[in-house]
Amino acid sequence: MYVLNIGGTPLGMYKYLIEYYKAGDISFKYVKTFNMDEYVGLPRNHVESYHYYMLTNFFAHVNIDPKNVHILDGNAVDLQAECAHYEMLIREAGGVHLFVGGIGPDGHIAFNEPGSSLVSRTRVKTLTQDTLEANARFFGNDIDQVPKQALTVGVGTVMDAETVMILITGWHKALALHKAIEKGVNHMWTISAFQQHPKTLILCDELATMEL
Ligand code: GLP
Repeated sequence: MYVLNIGGTPLGMYKYLIEYYKAGDISFKYVKTFNMDEYVGLPRNHVESYHYYMLTNFFAHVNIDPKNVHILDGNAVDLQAECAHYEMLIREAGGVHLFVGGIGPDGHIAFNEPGSSLVSRTRVKTLTQDTLEANARFFGNDIDQVPKQALTVGVGTVMDAETVMILITGWHKALALHKAIEKGVNHMWTISAFQQHPKTLILCDELATMEL
C-alpha cells in the first residue's frame, strides 16, 4: 500500500510508472493508494485539486482499481471526521508500505507546516503565508485564489510507514535539505523528523544539495 504525492517533483515518476505499465512490466491491479493531502473547499474537478492531478497524471493511465484509491475529501461536511476516517482506512489496509512524498521550500512534508507536531495525525491545517505564496503560481499568481486550508496526513502518520522515500529537487529546496539531514530534529522543519525513521531514502538532484 502506497501513499502518493502531488506537485511538480513527482511528475517524472508517474510518467515512468505509466510507461512501465504500458510495456507490461508492472501492474497496479492489487495496489492500494492513499494520497497525503488535499485542499479544503476546492471542487474535485478543479484543475488544481489533488483529485484532478492524480486522475489526469496517473490513475487514468494505469489499471488501478478505483476502490483502492483514497484521497482526502476537502469538501466533507465534517472535516475532522473525514481525517479520523482516513486514519482508520490506512490502519484497516494494513498500514503504509511505501510513502513517496516531496517537500515544500520551508521543509514541510505533505502540508505539515512549520511548527506542526512531529507526532501529528491526519487533520485540518491552515497554510502558512510561505506556502500560499509558493502555490500561487498554480492559481494564476493570485494568492487570494489559493485555498487557505488543507487536509493532510500527519508527521506521525508518515513516520508509521515502513519505508519513506522523499523526492527533493531544485535550489529553492536546498536549505530544507540541509535542515532535513544536517541539523537537529525540529518541528519548524518537519522533514527533519525522518532522521528518526528507520528506513528513509532521500532522492535529490544536484541543485538541491547546494547547502550541504
Ligand atoms: C505542496 C504539497 C506537498 C508537495 C509540495 C511540493 O506543498 N502539499 O505535498 O510535496 O507542494 O511540490 P512541488 O513538487 O511542486 O515543489
